[in-house]
Amino acid sequence: MGKEYPDPISDVPEVSEQLTLTFARDAAALAASDHVRRWYDYLQGFEPDLAARKLREHAAGDDTVVLDPFCGSGTTLVAAQFLGYRAIGVDANPLMRLVSEAKTTWDVPLGQLKSRSAEFLAALDQKLHEGSEELDAACAIPMKSFNNWFRPPVLREVLAARDVLQDLPPRNEGVNNLLRMAYAKALFESSQVSMCPGITFVKKPRPPLRVTLRHKLTTIAADLQLLRTLELQKQPKARVVQGDARDLADQVEQDSVDVLFTSPPYPTDIEYTRQTRAELYFLGFIETMDDVRAIKKRMVRGSPKNIYKTDNNEQLVAGYPAIQDVSAAIHEVTKDKNWGWDYPRMVREYFGDMYACLRDALRVLRPGGWALFVVGDQTCKGVRIPVTDILRDIGRDLGFADTYTETVRERRSTTHSMSLPESVVGLRR
Ligand SMILES: C[S@@+](CC[C@H](N)C(=O)[O-])C[C@H]1O[C@@H](n2cnc3c(N)ncnc32)[C@H](O)[C@@H]1O
Repeated sequence: MGKEYPDPISDVPEVSEQLTLTFARDAAALAASDHVRRWYDYLQGFEPDLAARKLREHAAGDDTVVLDPFCGSGTTLVAAQFLGYRAIGVDANPLMRLVSEAKTTWDVPLGQLKSRSAEFLAALDQKLHEGSEELDAACAIPMKSFNNWFRPPVLREVLAARDVLQDLPPRNEGVNNLLRMAYAKALFESSQVSMCPGITFVKKPRPPLRVTLRHKLTTIAADLQLLRTLELQKQPKARVVQGDARDLADQVEQDSVDVLFTSPPYPTDIEYTRQTRAELYFLGFIETMDDVRAIKKRMVRGSPKNIYKTDNNEQLVAGYPAIQDVSAAIHEVTKDKNWGWDYPRMVREYFGDMYACLRDALRVLRPGGWALFVVGDQTCKGVRIPVTDILRDIGRDLGFADTYTETVRERRSTTHSMSLPESVVGLRR
């Protein structure tokens, strides 16, 4: 008797209408979310379709509440909003709060956005054309930190646009937020800075601000028109707050979150206020270094440039040999170098801060809810930091009932030819 093969047609399982609809809705949402993302891209930390896939996998039905305690430019919030979930975003950086807020406000009066954008561009042209002593004087003031950032004619545009924006009479808050976000992104695109992810400067002149700003405003209006056509402006709007993920109690109700999905800072020496210094300054969020310090202090200690004498979250992880071993190994390779930066302590404070985040995540999750952290193992001064395993161990010790690690991609450390997996660490309350 020959082997019996299944009938290739009749044995294909039927796909339910419901599943087909869900699939089609998700695909459309993903395609449209690309449009919103391009308004302000950032150090996302993960592929946007990863957020959508993991949210779907762990959602608790249409009433799902999603939290991203390190929301940055809002990739998780945008994905959640497209899928129709209620989302909450927290970020310590006021610029990122503004960006996430603007990217999740889809019901702005479109006509007003278009007319305000036109007013903004016309007033900017006029101000630059007329010139003013005030503006020229401002350009002459050497702003030390921005000397290399802008070519002089662009700096002049940046200052003029800032004044015009300040003088536009306030109307709809959503429209104002979009204009401010567009200005922040355009000034970056017109600067000579490149993030990779540290700051470097390019020689080739970048386009004038009038060009990048016009392009940004036109794109946003066209994309919002698309969302309107798809009736997506009716989706529940995300709530975005400026806060500290190590202390969520004031921002997020206890036992309320179904899925927490986030990409936290890594112990890789990225200093997040430095990445956004010009945008923070020209939007008026910071004036002095004290203002910068106040924001830095609310951030996870992922960089030795962001450690303070009074910090002491390292005591929360004093009992973790893996953390102490990594810290000691980094001390060994750095002890003879006089950098002035304390990398061994950074690692201990970093994990102490992440301990505090996971502890608060447990509080705000509802029983059975999932916390999902997209993290990658890192190297610091040639020493491997097994971030994924350490966070999972901390989760277990804190009392998460179930845990898993799913590797989503392999990266290579460029400086030390090591393979560094990037994973989702899943923790169920
Ligand atoms: C890897 S980025 C997240 C990027 C985000 N997934 C996106 O779509 O843009 C980490 C973010 O955490 C923020 N952050 C750092 N420490 C924080 C803290 N203690 N509380 C809240 N946010 C914090 C930084 O400002 C930064 O925006």
